Amino acid sequence: MVTIDAGVTGQLRLAPSILAADFGALADAVRDVDTETDWLHVDVMDGHFVPNVSIGPPVVQSIRRYSNKFFDCHLMMSQPERYLEAFAKAGADGCTVHVEVGGTESLIAQMRSLGLRVGLAANPDTPFARVEPFLGQIDLLLLMTVFPGFGGQMFISEVMDKVRLARGVIDERRLGVDLEVDGGIDEVTAPIATAAGANVLVAGSAIFSRPAPLDAARRLRECAERGRR
Ligand code: DX5
Ligand code: ZN
Repeated sequence: MVTIDAGVTGQLRLAPSILAADFGALADAVRDVDTETDWLHVDVMDGHFVPNVSIGPPVVQSIRRYSNKFFDCHLMMSQPERYLEAFAKAGADGCTVHVEVGGTESLIAQMRSLGLRVGLAANPDTPFARVEPFLGQIDLLLLMTVFPGFGGQMFISEVMDKVRLARGVIDERRLGVDLEVDGGIDEVTAPIATAAGANVLVAGSAIFSRPAPLDAARRLRECAERGRR
């Protein structure tokens, strides 16, 4: 099992979400955006934690052949412990579990033992205090900017207060934690998110639903960079 490096923590990372791509031509979609993106965000929905079903380990295994990007797997699942090993074997490099499902301590230990980079996610209405106790044990904090379950939703700007708070704590304690936002990220909201302190941006519709995904990714990165200045 070869694990792909996530790069330097804190650097700007653009992570296209394949949820918005044409599942019938995933390999092409992934290859198309390769030069202008950093990670690949894989949205996994179980129909229980969220009211939608998407993809699982077999799809990760298939696209692994067409990409050497860091695979950032976002597990919107009630029982991620049952599937973490399968994702690791399929080629996931990092997995992110939701704090709302509980059992976080043991999920972190399981991800570590599988050699996965460890992510923890919080829904828009989940307070920072819920994730704060785990910051010293994780590699990535994902603060959702929409309620998970569907692509193409509107960015919830109120989450930026939590992003600023998280960035402050991560920097103050010098924690090696990436801060990711996911949901409704486009040319307008990307600089808002990076200005608030996010360094990993997930974007589905703003890349794959555009007529020219590679150009869209390039523009999105430029907008995100602008927010960081
Ligand atoms: C939401 C997913 C996101 C979402 C992003 O449940 O976790 O990754 O698909 O899609 P856009 O960028 O279209 O909001
Ligand atoms: Zn996601």
